[in-house]
Amino acid sequence: MDEKRKKADVLIGLQWGDEGKGKIVDVLTPGYNIVARFQGGPNAGHTLEFDNKKIILHTIPSGIFHDSAINLIGNGVVIDPVVLNKEVQSLDVDKDIILNSLLISKKAHLILPTHRLLDFVYERSRGENKIGSTLKGIGPAFTDKIARSGIRTGNIIQKDFGDRYDSLKQIHLKHIASFDCTDKIQIEGMDFEEYERLWFESLEMLSEMRLIDSEVFVNNSLNNGLSLLAEGAQGTLLDIDFGSYPFVTSSNTITAGACTGLGIAPSGIGEVIGVFKAYCTRVGSGPFPTEIFNEKGEKLRTMGKEFGSTTGRPRRCGWLDLAALKYAVMLNGVNKIIMTKADVLNSFNKIDVCTHYKIKNQKIDYMPFNIDDKDLKPVYKTLKGWKKSLENIDTFEQVPTPLKDYVKYIEDHVEIPVWMVSTGSNRNQIIKR
Ligand code: GDP
Ligand code: IMO
Ligand code: MG
Repeated sequence: MDEKRKKADVLIGLQWGDEGKGKIVDVLTPGYNIVARFQGGPNAGHTLEFDNKKIILHTIPSGIFHDSAINLIGNGVVIDPVVLNKEVQSLDVDKDIILNSLLISKKAHLILPTHRLLDFVYERSRGENKIGSTLKGIGPAFTDKIARSGIRTGNIIQKDFGDRYDSLKQIHLKHIASFDCTDKIQIEGMDFEEYERLWFESLEMLSEMRLIDSEVFVNNSLNNGLSLLAEGAQGTLLDIDFGSYPFVTSSNTITAGACTGLGIAPSGIGEVIGVFKAYCTRVGSGPFPTEIFNEKGEKLRTMGKEFGSTTGRPRRCGWLDLAALKYAVMLNGVNKIIMTKADVLNSFNKIDVCTHYKIKNQKIDYMPFNIDDKDLKPVYKTLKGWKKSLENIDTFEQVPTPLKDYVKYIEDHVEIPVWMVSTGSNRNQIIKR
């Protein structure tokens, strides 16, 4: 059995999310038997493009469009039945195929309608210090999980489900009443009662899906020689422990999250693939050392279509930050990196790259505790732009020399080879080395 056993590969974002993980997972899925989400929830928005279609996935893993793969939502994910149901209904694929190839952990926690209300009142009470949450109920759902009050998908079919739901709902409502919140809060444009009704309808669908003890399924599959790709959501710099706290999400977005979020021992992890953009973006509040406030930032936003996949908010844009990238590579044990959105830089004469920071005269080449220190200044190296379209380039040899130099400069800094360069949003726009 041991000889056959496969290790699980992990794909994670190395920046503040939206690195293009969904596209890359879609590209890599033909090489895997199983694709599994392990943390986060519907705060994620993973975009896939092929056959003139653009699909944004929030809860369903990005391997869903390959018939050969089984897709799993692991125990580390929090699920909003309404969002999941909507996603299943909206996909232009036979529903039976989805329902057959999609497995869900019984230990994944549910996002209740009141979790969404809580997210809203917490954010509002923070005033100017708001996190910039997607307001999908992520923080409150993970709070209940850690407080041991949460409800899991495996509880849905149990007799006491209704009582558990009511009791948790009442606790939430009492808590919400303690905030100065006089107006009626809407969820996705609906009143609470309407959303709650839809939630229960969607729960019905969820209860008919393939709910399993996924940690056993995962380990049996690996033992039997099946391959698995764990799909991260968000990015390393939004990690609850190592991100720019408190401006982070409420889960471990790093490789270690795949161990707890799927039930895979650390010794069972194989390759770790890190995805990063050729520049940086961030949506929501929090420190962003290389953020650009002039027309170049605006140009990155326009050329890169940098608007949130989940909320539609404009993303803040900045130069590539190698200090942050190195820090992310360290935390995740990355062996291969993939650069996306190289094409967005096509028309830039010069490209700045942050090599390290300075606080007063001290050089810092990682993300320090005090990343929001007013005295922290990024130090840049300016590289030459390639000023050429990357359309129809299939091999790395055909890549313009300044882009080769850009890739080499990154590799020298982070000491990891760039394995692929993505040159467009479509499945086919990828250069493999
Ligand atoms: P994810 O959350 O990491 O999956 O990333 P998102 O889907 O939220 O955001 C990435 C955006 O960039 C999506 O709109 C993708 O279609 C798009 N995208 C991915 N790779 C590339 C690329 O190489 N070039 C361009 N121009 N767009 C890309
Ligand atoms: P994907 O998987 C980018 C950000 C939010 C906010 C902070 C906390 O598409 O890369 P939350 O809703 O978790 O309470 O928000 O984290 N955020 C993301 N930013 N991509 C994401 O996911 C994100 N998920 C959450 O904007 O700043
Ligand atoms: Mg996204």
